[in-house]
Amino acid sequence: MSVRTSGRLDRLPRYEPGLTTAEVLAAYGLERAVKLASNESPFPPLPEVEAVVRAGLAGLNRYPDSAARALRAALAERHGARPDQVVLGNGSCELILLMGQATLDPGTTVVHADPSFAVYPLLAPLNGAEALAVPLAEDDGLDLEAMAAAVDERVRLVLVCNPNNPTGVYRAADEVERLLDAVPEDLAVVVDEAYFDFVDRPDAGRVMSLARERPNLLVTRTFSKAHGLCGLRVGYGVGAPALVEAIDRVRQPFNTNALAQAAALESLRHPGALADRVRVVLAERARLADALEALNAGFTPSQANFILLEAEPGDDAPGPGVHQRLLANGVIVRDGASLGCAGRLRVTVGAPEDNSAFLAAYAEARGVPQPPTTVRTPP
Ligand SMILES: Cc1ncc(COP(=O)(O)O)c(C=O)c1O
Repeated sequence: MSVRTSGRLDRLPRYEPGLTTAEVLAAYGLERAVKLASNESPFPPLPEVEAVVRAGLAGLNRYPDSAARALRAALAERHGARPDQVVLGNGSCELILLMGQATLDPGTTVVHADPSFAVYPLLAPLNGAEALAVPLAEDDGLDLEAMAAAVDERVRLVLVCNPNNPTGVYRAADEVERLLDAVPEDLAVVVDEAYFDFVDRPDAGRVMSLARERPNLLVTRTFSKAHGLCGLRVGYGVGAPALVEAIDRVRQPFNTNALAQAAALESLRHPGALADRVRVVLAERARLADALEALNAGFTPSQANFILLEAEPGDDAPGPGVHQRLLANGVIVRDGASLGCAGRLRVTVGAPEDNSAFLAAYAEARGVPQPPTTVRTPP
């Protein structure tokens, strides 16, 4: 006899994390593999952050500050907001899940794009609600007009992923603002800016300034990407105090751990070092894009730390698919099929040598000569 579990589980899609390096090494009998599958930073945490984490070990017999006062105050200052406009999560992923819990009931609806971040489709089944998944526009970006048009009186939450994962397309702040103007002021909107640090457009950051004023907006960001702290799990939201309070009521008391709080606080103190690292990623993103163009591979121009590209354009070598051939060569990228983008691959922009390994393996997998590329000096 099996244990009786919630009927909601039957409707719940499985979140599939990327393959780990250990899994690929074992499956293909390899000694080395490069992992470009989970949009992680190629850089370890800053040395000052590592020191703070080491120092924090001695205090782990104590619970963390449940209100994370120091980190919330620092984030509030950084974004010109008040501490009651800042909420922390065990990764921004948790904040998104908590927003579902805080806003959805049976009979209500959540609007999100499709394909978009793989956690969004969990919200409706987890909360007994329905999802309205709005297809992307022709350019692989969010169709914000269609998302706004999908809103009716049953909708309680709209999720806007900008730039969108897995496509990397960025929507201008004006366009996001138009969606905010088009929906009722009492409808919760989350703008998920997990990849904000990699956007090099002049209007990046404008939606965050709207979050300080709008009564229904929460902008989420994360320390997982540019700060290189995904292993510690810390993300945050800035926005309407009513949404911050709603999340605070449904979260578990100590949702961000002591080391995560300390590490994030320290990481915020080194904007220059972080900007240097981001510049390397952007230079590498441009190099990858140039090389893919030289290979005649279709890809979506990205404002994030990953690129979505065609798996098998034109003249491939016969045999197993390009994704499998990359794995066999020790290059782990994400098969688009698991992200709602069959026939494509999502490659994270990694360290220069890892990106070069990807380009060499990708060219080989397709049976075409490797394009010459030069590692660029970051601007
Ligand atoms: C669009 C988007 N939002 C949120 C997250 C969650 O990040 P974390 O929970 O590590 O902050 C990710 C992670 O890849 C993401 O791609």
